[in-house]
Amino acid sequence: MPETDWRRTGRGPIWKGMSQFNDLSSPLRFLETRRSGKPRDMIAPGPDANELNRILTIAARVPDHGKVAPWRFMVVPPERRGALNAVLDAAYLEEKPGAGRLELEANAQFAQQAPTLVIVFTKVDPARSIPAEEQIASAACAAMQMENAANASGYVSGWLTGWAAYSDAVHRRLAQPGERIAGFIFMGTPGKPLEERPRPDMTEIVRTWDGTAAQ
Ligand SMILES: Cc1cc2nc3c(=O)[nH]c(=O)nc-3n(C[C@H](O)[C@H](O)[C@H](O)COP(=O)(O)O)c2cc1C
Repeated sequence: MPETDWRRTGRGPIWKGMSQFNDLSSPLRFLETRRSGKPRDMIAPGPDANELNRILTIAARVPDHGKVAPWRFMVVPPERRGALNAVLDAAYLEEKPGAGRLELEANAQFAQQAPTLVIVFTKVDPARSIPAEEQIASAACAAMQMENAANASGYVSGWLTGWAAYSDAVHRRLAQPGERIAGFIFMGTPGKPLEERPRPDMTEIVRTWDGTAAQ
């Protein structure tokens, strides 16, 4: 099916001949062509409350060794974006007291972009025998599955981390003890066509083992 056959109407501008949304014509076609949107280019609408509930429920249906559920989702609604901006500014200034206006403007841009934002936290349970790596891997699956569900719902998504995901000052303000931010998942309608990026050379990353050591 040509790319332009599945473009949506009534959801923002359409660029003739360019794919604004991911291809949802079949599950395989979506998976083999999917790409992220840039959160800064996303426009309204984002998923409504029912759609978002469904997206989050799908995100919780992921491989999870030992049924630990080592992740948690925090929706940041539009009316709390200003508060998120304030948290980022306070954390940034705590870590970098001499920060200038431009650095703080980047926090505002980050916190305010895209109609919908969900923060995915990794919640490793050290009391469980499941290795931390596996719990972190499950959280990454949840974030990716959230992205897939957002796209399957007719939106686009983008997974960002940035300094905030690695800042202890941010975690003290947003996270529960022991949690880490796995990512900020932004969702919305693409305001621009989705861009493609270079993909791995499959001949470099796929081998059929011939039985010898580390070939
Ligand atoms: C854990 C993680 C963190 C990421 N953080 C950022 C980020 O902070 N900024 C950014 O531009 N892209 C970031 N990305 C990449 C984008 O989410 C996106 O995957 C990529 O730009 C486009 O690739 P795709 O179209 O195959 O999704 C991150 C990806 C992952 C998996």
